[in-house]
Amino acid sequence: MSKELGFAIIGCGVISPFHARAIQEIKGVKLVIVCDAVEKSAEKTGKEFGVKWTSNLDEVLSNSDVDIVNICTPSGLHRDIAIKAAKAGKHLIVEKPLEITLPKCDEIIKAARENKVKLAVIFSSRFKDGAQKLKKAIEKKRFGQIALADAYVKWYRPQEYYDSGAWRGTWKIDGGGALMNQSIHTIDLLQWFMGDVESITAITRTIVHKIEVEDTACAILQFKNGALGVIEGSTACFPGTDARIAIHGEKGTAILDEGEISEWIFKEPEPSGKDMKQKEGTVSSGAQDPTKKMTHEAHRRQITDTVEAILDDREPLVNGEEGKKAVEIILAIYKSGKENKKVKLGAL
Ligand SMILES: NC(=O)c1ccc[n+]([C@@H]2O[C@H](COP(=O)([O-])OP(=O)(O)OC[C@H]3O[C@@H](n4cnc5c(N)ncnc54)[C@H](O)[C@@H]3O)[C@@H](O)[C@H]2O)c1
Repeated sequence: MSKELGFAIIGCGVISPFHARAIQEIKGVKLVIVCDAVEKSAEKTGKEFGVKWTSNLDEVLSNSDVDIVNICTPSGLHRDIAIKAAKAGKHLIVEKPLEITLPKCDEIIKAARENKVKLAVIFSSRFKDGAQKLKKAIEKKRFGQIALADAYVKWYRPQEYYDSGAWRGTWKIDGGGALMNQSIHTIDLLQWFMGDVESITAITRTIVHKIEVEDTACAILQFKNGALGVIEGSTACFPGTDARIAIHGEKGTAILDEGEISEWIFKEPEPSGKDMKQKEGTVSSGAQDPTKKMTHEAHRRQITDTVEAILDDREPLVNGEEGKKAVEIILAIYKSGKENKKVKLGAL
């Protein structure tokens, strides 16, 4: 029997327990070791999940029981760890955003290709039932020509959230604010459903918080498929509402609230008769606290997909190129907001 695939988690902060719980629920794999630059954080997580811990990345990368590293460090610190791990022959699961600039995303993608390791970027929202169902409906052209496709992320983070870590709300390490950190999941879903964006016109502002990055942004999008849409993202909207995707076409409307279908209405019903207005899936709201109501189920599904990709030698569902797309859209919004002009995608 081939050996169990072994995981290591790098960065033992807020998101790391979601990875640890997910890994420990997947059959045929094991969490081997956790690592954090702060020894005490590594120790706490190691003890919680009953595995070894270290503050030394080299100890992780030289461990032959480790096949996959899950990079859960602050966003602008993903590249260096990812490249080092790829060179050590470890497969990569990188938390969103892949990195905070396109060249840094490209460097990770290149390192994974050159070292023949798989690269998956965490966009676990794609693995929720409602999102999968909506994607299939679009592929089956059930909406006809789509006219409007919108993403709304009207969330709330108190100032204390930004003050809780030196990297939060900074251009250098967070890479942005309400869009690069929070709205990115919903922006990724929007582009996954709609395909390439042609151009973006946007306004970004810091309205409520004492941070250097935006806490609120509005963007108008033209998609290559002819549809229009908007992105509204904020962390300044108390108490916060569910992140929403709304797709409206000549033959139907669907609304996804936190991955759960809340509207599902088509001119031409499905033969199965399952097309009534319905609710399904699991709610996992990041409206106020990103982790309060969030479960690790979507992470489990995505990590399972990555394990299968490694075993079957195929690309993970969200590979590096896929993971980079939402970053590109967000950087185009920032550029448009800063320069007060329409930005064409692909011209960054
Ligand atoms: N998928 C999601 O829903 C989700 C939710 C929250 C955060 N995230 C992403 O996860 C990443 C981490 O966010 P967080 O909120 O857990 O941050 P955090 O600040 O809570 O934790 C980061 C940890 O990384 C450690 N660290 C920093 N530099 C390191 C290094 N060089 N080597 C090892 N450890 C290092 C820190 O000591 C800290 O413990 C970010 O990229 C963020 O965007 C994703």
